[in-house]
Amino acid sequence: MKFSAAILTSVLAAASLVSAAPLQRRGQTKMMTKTTRFDASGAIYFITNEPDENMVIAASINSDGTLNLDRAVAAGGRGAHGIADGPDALFSQGAIKASAKGQVLATVNAGSNTVSLFSIDSRTPTNINQIGDVVSSEGEFPMSLAFNAAGTQLCVLNGGQVNGVFCYKVDKKTGLNAMPNTLRPLGLNQTTPATGPAGTASHIIFSEDGKQLIASVKGVPPTPGFLAVWDVNSDGSLSPDFKKIAPAKNGILPFSMTVIPGKNAILATDAGLGFDIFDLKDNSKSSAVAIDGQVATCWSSFSKKTGNFYLTDIGTATVTEVHVDNNLKGTIVAQHPQLPGSATIDNDIATVNGQDFLYVLAPNATAVDVLLLDGSGTAKQLSTLDLSGPTKAAGITINPNNLQGMTTFTR
Ligand SMILES: *[C@@H]1O[C@H](CO)[C@@H](O)[C@H](O)[C@H]1NC(C)=O
Ligand SMILES: *[C@@H]1O[C@H](CO)[C@@H](O)[C@H](O)[C@H]1NC(C)=O
Repeated sequence: MKFSAAILTSVLAAASLVSAAPLQRRGQTKMMTKTTRFDASGAIYFITNEPDENMVIAASINSDGTLNLDRAVAAGGRGAHGIADGPDALFSQGAIKASAKGQVLATVNAGSNTVSLFSIDSRTPTNINQIGDVVSSEGEFPMSLAFNAAGTQLCVLNGGQVNGVFCYKVDKKTGLNAMPNTLRPLGLNQTTPATGPAGTASHIIFSEDGKQLIASVKGVPPTPGFLAVWDVNSDGSLSPDFKKIAPAKNGILPFSMTVIPGKNAILATDAGLGFDIFDLKDNSKSSAVAIDGQVATCWSSFSKKTGNFYLTDIGTATVTEVHVDNNLKGTIVAQHPQLPGSATIDNDIATVNGQDFLYVLAPNATAVDVLLLDGSGTAKQLSTLDLSGPTKAAGITINPNNLQGMTTFTR
């Protein structure tokens, strides 16, 4: 197994000290642009995840898919770094999520054990405003978020010593309202902050039909990880217990999950192998596929335009494009190397003027890579958004080891 040796045995850095003191400086915004854009096609968002103060960074998407760094908004809490070295502080995908349907944005504050909700101004999508109070995640080290399709329910995955899931009703006036019968434990033997990446929670999503809530958990080699699946009742409450689904043979560290459209199936990146395909109807049809030369393939998204999945590897700084056929057979279509050492992590896709663009957070380069997905196998490097100059000029602290998340919004 290629992953692990280096990462698992790496000397554990002292965990950043995380204060439990509340921090609720509502709405503090720092501008990085002089012109307010009323013509943006959409926006991307990620978080600084700084232990002193977490901030949401928002960049508008121009009509050609390129980015314009607009502003940073106080998230209302603190970030945290799991017990491990380097970037990918939360060991997760989905630390910040936008809902186009709900026109809302939510972020975890992993060091405060809280979740914040913002409205998105659809005319100027980087203009976000906090709604209601910052609320408890009802667990420790919140690391991932999922909206239902309507944007009316939000669930959080806690990955620390107190781990599991919890959900809120999303109200555009009052914010996040705790939903009864949604606090469900995962039962992981973990610490706060989490110790990883092996053995940590990874990602939370709703199934395509919205009837299940799914959390992924990485294994501790040689023991494989699993998906935890709760049924979602019509009132949004969850089944008392989860169903545990193991990856196919050789699957070991399920990380991000991306729905395979129309199939009741999921593509999960596997940090120890490449990727796992989970057939939720019949797990005997699930498979695990190796990506040769991979180090840690952890994040993924799907393009409606190309019909392919885009997987990022933090160690090789490469985007691997994958196709999954009608029989759920996954094959590698192409690989798109990015800047070596840039540590490509979270990614997401936006459709702008009929074209799909892939946005990849590359924290070690303090940059966001923009790729035009103009056809199957032909992702084209379009531009790179520099984060260090503009954030420094605006007095915003960023750190390659803490930057996390990537979510897109289009009108
Ligand atoms: C939990 O993990 C710790 C640290 O690895 C270990 O010492 C302990 O035995 C584990 N506890 C259980 C119940 O597995
Ligand atoms: C990130 O950059 C540091 C400093 O240059 C380097 O030591 C490290 O290997 C890089 N990490 C990754 C995952 O590329």
